[in-house]
Amino acid sequence: MDKLIAETKEYFINNIQQTEDKYGLLEHVPEVVKWVKKIREYYPKSDLEVVLFGAWLHDVSHYLVNDGEDHAVKSEEMSREFLSGKIDKDTIDRVCHCVRSHRCKDVAPETLEAKVLACADSASHMSGIIYMDMLSNGHRVATVDEKLERDYRDIFIFPEVKELLTPIYKLWKSMLLEYQKLNLPKGE
Ligand SMILES: [Fe+2]
Ligand SMILES: [Fe+2]
Repeated sequence: MDKLIAETKEYFINNIQQTEDKYGLLEHVPEVVKWVKKIREYYPKSDLEVVLFGAWLHDVSHYLVNDGEDHAVKSEEMSREFLSGKIDKDTIDRVCHCVRSHRCKDVAPETLEAKVLACADSASHMSGIIYMDMLSNGHRVATVDEKLERDYRDIFIFPEVKELLTPIYKLWKSMLLEYQKLNLPKGE
C-alpha cells in the first residue's frame, strides 16, 4: 500500500506541476499531511491509508474546474478513476467520501477518516502561509478574515485541534487587524 500512496502523491504532483500552481497546492497538501498525522495521535483508529489517499487527492482537480464548478466533485471523479483497479471498491468509496466532503459544504464529512481530512485541511491553513499569500496577492482583508473564520469553524470537528490552534487563530486575527491599518497601496 505504501507504494500506491507514493504513486498517488506523484499523480498529484504531476497534475499540479502542469499548472502555475497559483494557490500553492504543492506546499498546502504536505501541510495537510502533517495535520493528518497530528490528528491521528488523538484518533489512531482512523484508517491512515484512506486518509492519506484522500489528502493527496482532495485538491488534485483544483485548476481543472470551471467557474461555478466544485473541485471536490471533480477531485472525487478523478480519485475514483485513478484508484480504480488498484485497490478494492470499498476502500475507494471511503477515500471518495473523504475527498467529496473535505470542504464541509454540501456534503458533510460522516466517517472518522473524512472528519480527519476536513479538519486537517482547515488546520493546515492556520499553520501555513495561505492568509499572508492571499493578502500579498491583493485579496481584501475581509475576504481573508472570512476564510480564517471558516477554517476556525471547521477545526471544531475535534476539540483537541481547536485547543491546539486557538492561540494561533487569535494571532492571525490580530495580524489581520494590524495589516488592515497599514492601508498598503497596490503594487502595480
Ligand atoms: Fe479543497
Ligand atoms: Fe485542501
